[in-house]
Amino acid sequence: MAALDTVLAKIDGNLDSALGRLFKLVEIPSVSTDPAYAGDCAKAAEWLAAELTSLGFETSVRKTPGHPIIVGQAKAARPDVPHVLFYGHYDVQPPDPLDLWESPPFEPRAVEAATGKRIAGRGVADDKGQLMTFVEACRAFQETGGLPCHITFLIEGEEETGSPSLPAFLAANADELKADMALVCDTGMWDRETPAITTMLRGLVLEEVVVHAANRDLHSGIFGGAAINPIHVLARVIADLHDEKGRVTLPGFYNGVAELPEDVAGHWRELRFRESDFLGEVGLSLPAGEQGRGVLEMVWSRPTCDLNGIVGGYTGKGSKTVLPAQASAKFSFRLVGSQDPVKIAETFRAFVKERLPADCRAEFISHGASGAVQLPFSSEALSRAGRALQAEWGKEPVLAGCGGSIPVVGAFKRDLGMDTLMIGFGLEDDRIHSPNEKYELSSFRKGTRSWARVLNALAL
Ligand code: BES
Ligand code: MN
Ligand code: MN
Repeated sequence: MAALDTVLAKIDGNLDSALGRLFKLVEIPSVSTDPAYAGDCAKAAEWLAAELTSLGFETSVRKTPGHPIIVGQAKAARPDVPHVLFYGHYDVQPPDPLDLWESPPFEPRAVEAATGKRIAGRGVADDKGQLMTFVEACRAFQETGGLPCHITFLIEGEEETGSPSLPAFLAANADELKADMALVCDTGMWDRETPAITTMLRGLVLEEVVVHAANRDLHSGIFGGAAINPIHVLARVIADLHDEKGRVTLPGFYNGVAELPEDVAGHWRELRFRESDFLGEVGLSLPAGEQGRGVLEMVWSRPTCDLNGIVGGYTGKGSKTVLPAQASAKFSFRLVGSQDPVKIAETFRAFVKERLPADCRAEFISHGASGAVQLPFSSEALSRAGRALQAEWGKEPVLAGCGGSIPVVGAFKRDLGMDTLMIGFGLEDDRIHSPNEKYELSSFRKGTRSWARVLNALAL
């Protein structure tokens, strides 16, 4: 195996061609939620498989009930080294609203900004650029004498829709996928100079409710006052879900939610998180969550109930005097600790049903339920990765929480008995899921170099 310096120099030498490869991947509009892009999801999977094959991985593209999953395996030059499973996702969120993009979402380009070069395009930070940092690190090893660890790739195309095909795939292929640990590059840095290792993820319950009332839309003059209005019913349910202190009122909702251990709380205080910058950057000034809690705590270690969409009646131009037959809303619950996602979905449904007046009926649609993830705050792998990141960035990594969810990480623990090391190079202002998503060139370059150092450290 070549010395680490040789590998790092190779990464820097490859940077231009690596960017070219990333652009090719971002050009494929692999939007998983919209069936119109199923062909593009398959194309992204084939593209990645060809890439891995060319790097000496034994690769296959596996069919699932949804979008294909790629598995690739390669052995290290030495036999007695750890075996890691790297997970990433090639699917992206829809680019809408399109008119807010400064350049077309699937025509990636490098842009010069005050903080340096960045690449703009849908999926460039979530997760294509991040996933390619690991691929490019593997390339540099293969071009300089071989991999330091045995590596299995698992790349899916349904993460942005809650990974519906993945649990069955993990169960059916457990022997093939089981490794000493999993590595995931789908999270962020603490700030642009400070790397992070993420040890907590919130869980996610997605519920849609349709409240039905009359058997058709009604004239609000003829029926108004006499007929029940499902928008009012839904609005009342929604208002009931929080109390005046910002707490969620579902019975038992906070079961399994613990106060932060003092050492973790202390560590977070030392981070000097700037609440007003965090909110100010998105045009807000006051925290809107549970009273008496810090913002970092609100997004990392407290559970939430949010509405993501609400529809009912006439929403077109002008006015229409109508009492609608139905109203609907999409809810998301972010979970922490040992909150039970199945129980919370059930409690929510009961909560809605209890509040339905005569003549109303609720229809429920689940869009997924996964629990929170808590990984150990210390382990041999974590220390090694921490030192490797420090060597690249010149700063000790922050042990971070994450308000978002990555459904597979819980399944790795539950079904394959593996802990996951989550290291990502995204920045808070990368605009993932939003128009003008970007990934900084420094994230891409130093992220690739970081993986080379981490893989090297894990193998020593
Ligand atoms: N990469 C994100 C998770 C994430 C979000 C990491 C924010 C770091 C910061 C992931 O692709 C994602 O968007 N997850 C979804 C879950 C899903 C089921 C739609 C999420 O958290 O909403
Ligand atoms: Mn992601
Ligand atoms: Mn995402």
